[in-house]
Amino acid sequence: MFLSLHVEDSVDLPEMATLEFLKETLIAIFYLIYYWIEAIILAFVPASIRGKDVAGETVLITGAGSGIGRLMAVRFAQLGCRLVLWDINQSGNEETAQQVKAAGASVRTYTVDLSNREDIYKCAEKVKQDVSQVDILINNAGIVTGKKFLDSPDNLIQKTMEVNTMAHFWTCKAFLPGMMERNHGHIVNIASSAGLLGVNGLCDYCASKFAAVGFDESLRFELEMQGKDGVHTTVVCPFYISTGMFEGAKTRYDANFL
Ligand SMILES: NC(=O)c1ccc[n+]([C@@H]2O[C@H](COP(=O)([O-])OP(=O)(O)OC[C@H]3O[C@@H](n4cnc5c(N)ncnc54)[C@H](O)[C@@H]3O)[C@@H](O)[C@H]2O)c1
Ligand SMILES: *[C@@H]1O[C@H](CO)[C@@H](O)[C@H](O)[C@H]1NC(C)=O
Repeated sequence: MFLSLHVEDSVDLPEMATLEFLKETLIAIFYLIYYWIEAIILAFVPASIRGKDVAGETVLITGAGSGIGRLMAVRFAQLGCRLVLWDINQSGNEETAQQVKAAGASVRTYTVDLSNREDIYKCAEKVKQDVSQVDILINNAGIVTGKKFLDSPDNLIQKTMEVNTMAHFWTCKAFLPGMMERNHGHIVNIASSAGLLGVNGLCDYCASKFAAVGFDESLRFELEMQGKDGVHTTVVCPFYISTGMFEGAKTRYDANFL
């Protein structure tokens, strides 16, 4: 609007736009280099110094009944957290709870189907009544069809999107308002390296994980723009980990490569 009053002035509009574009590009390149250097330096700082103190926090982990979810539950227990464990597999979840108790932490388990939005909301209400607040929410549960796209049954494609992507929306809708009110909280989305690159035989899985990455990044920007500097998000993109999830999958590098 301001510019439109001065079109007759010495600097014409296209030239201004070009300068503005150049300035923004240079700023973007500056940030890119800055964050690269920061990441390289941080890679040499031990996690014990760099990591935040989570003692006393309440941590909710979805898909806690096996694999990475179980390992995280035990680790958070050792760090002095209270655990809230969600899984569709009750016996797997109870096994994890036993390990959490053995590590000396208090724990509650909930049997919930993450492909069902209503079930998620109902379970979230129960959690709020039982433990009042959740400080760290880890969206970890995930499934894989593991077939070529045209061989993947419709219902499995749908379920993959529901568990790996949609469930993140519903758990965040349930627990983010409390975090924002207190300006304290952390949402962790376990995506995958398949959320950054397409992979043969993983069409629906990759689509669901790309979505999880995009959700995390956008939510982080939203929180930043709203000045919620106490609420964070982290997206995790692991390579193959031998939990049984990708049993039979072949890669040129084995699970210990990285
Ligand atoms: N294992 C890998 O190589 C690897 C690599 C990259 C990313 N990931 C991701 O890490 C996360 C954990 O993977 P994992 O290897 O530990 O898997 P896993 O199969 O060992 O555990 C997944 C857990 O989620 C639960 N679950 C599945 N569907 C559910 C539903 N509808 N409702 C509630 N719970 C449900 C399962 O019962 C199981 O306990 C997943 O999101 C996965 O996509 C895994
Ligand atoms: C549920 O968990 C138990 C205990 O870990 C495991 O033996 C069983 O295979 C799991 N069931 C399913 C359907 O994943």
